Amino acid sequence: MILVTGGCGYIGSHTVVELCNAGYEEIVIVDDLRNASIDVLDRIKQIVPSVSLHFYQVDINDEEGLEKVFSTHNIETVVHFAGLKAVGESVREPLLYYQNNISGTLVLLKVMARHGCKEIIFSSSATVYGPKNPIPYLEEMDTSATNPYGWTKVMQEQILRDIAVADPEMRVALLRYFNPIGAHESGLIGENPNGIPNNLLPYICKVAVGKLEKLSVFGNDYDTPDGTGVRDYIHVVDLAIGHVKALQYIRKNAGVLTVNLGTGIGYSVLDIVKAYEKASGRTIPYVIVDRRPGDIACNYANAEKAKELLGWTAERNLDDMCRDSWRFTEKNL
Ligand code: NAD
Ligand code: UD1
Repeated sequence: MILVTGGCGYIGSHTVVELCNAGYEEIVIVDDLRNASIDVLDRIKQIVPSVSLHFYQVDINDEEGLEKVFSTHNIETVVHFAGLKAVGESVREPLLYYQNNISGTLVLLKVMARHGCKEIIFSSSATVYGPKNPIPYLEEMDTSATNPYGWTKVMQEQILRDIAVADPEMRVALLRYFNPIGAHESGLIGENPNGIPNNLLPYICKVAVGKLEKLSVFGNDYDTPDGTGVRDYIHVVDLAIGHVKALQYIRKNAGVLTVNLGTGIGYSVLDIVKAYEKASGRTIPYVIVDRRPGDIACNYANAEKAKELLGWTAERNLDDMCRDSWRFTEKNL
């Protein structure tokens, strides 16, 4: 059976749906609901009625709680999403991030080892390429970070590589996500962060429905075609399917798989604004402000390795991403 930690969250919920679509219909979810709502479980069931979900509201730092889950179910694979992800918050509260992301993962790995569970798929991030690598990013480049959130990803990757050296039977996938956006086409699950969003798309969504007045574009003097920052945005459903492919891969191959999950295409902030205006029929007012400290001009993936090893490429384009995001936004925000 598959355990999905953080399975009620944004990427986790979409991955549960795609696992079920691929025939993995019985799934255990562990989520302490610190950044998700219990309603997501019903919504997943509406999308994939054949799914059989076993839900535990447990913090992954709670060893006893996890022990009960592993004693109740025969967990073969863990898809590990549970973690905190806000860069600015991680700078203000580094201990919270090291505790939750690193210690939480150590507890999870300890319980997995006790139960002979040797397969783990981990949510890493393009942030591990740090500020200095040339683009497009290739998996063999050196990793580093510029903030505690990023360091937790660099360190968790290292811990997982070390474990795989110590135990050759381990099967580990380190999936480096680029910028996931969009929502399930049903409009039932998507991203709706609490408070004022930090990331571009969630912010634009709130402007589109009138909950925020205007977008601040962080700089238009970068060395990019229109001067605004360029990123590799990927539809969350494509990303979720990437996890299914990674699962199928590690079931055939022991050791560590490290792959980028991106499209290989970069879009600017203003490209995104235009595409969202087209999808929603709403105007997105914006102002140009100073650059955000820590931002780089441009990043995107070299997506060849995932294509070669997993037979996976992102299939949904920017219009699909904005259309699906808008459908979720209209229904839920
Ligand atoms: P999310 O916040 O929507 O999902 C994370 C889930 O984990 C939430 O449901 C939260 O309640 C749960 N959680 C957090 N700490 C927990 C704990 N200690 N015990 C149990 N549950 C806990 O975030 P997401 O966007 O779905 O991201 C999932 C993973 O992917 C994270 O590890 C994140 O760092 C990584 N990631 C996300 C992005 C992105 O842009 N969204 C990019 C790269 C990597
Ligand atoms: C951010 C994180 C990164 C994390 C990723 C996914 C930072 C510095 N980086 O990436 O570590 O893995 O989210 O969670 O926070 N923008 C605006 N106005 C806004 C918001 C964003 O102009 O209100 C611009 C940014 O300058 C950037 C682009 O939009 O050029 C995308 O920003 P964002 O969605 O925050 O993602 P990243 O910065 O790529």
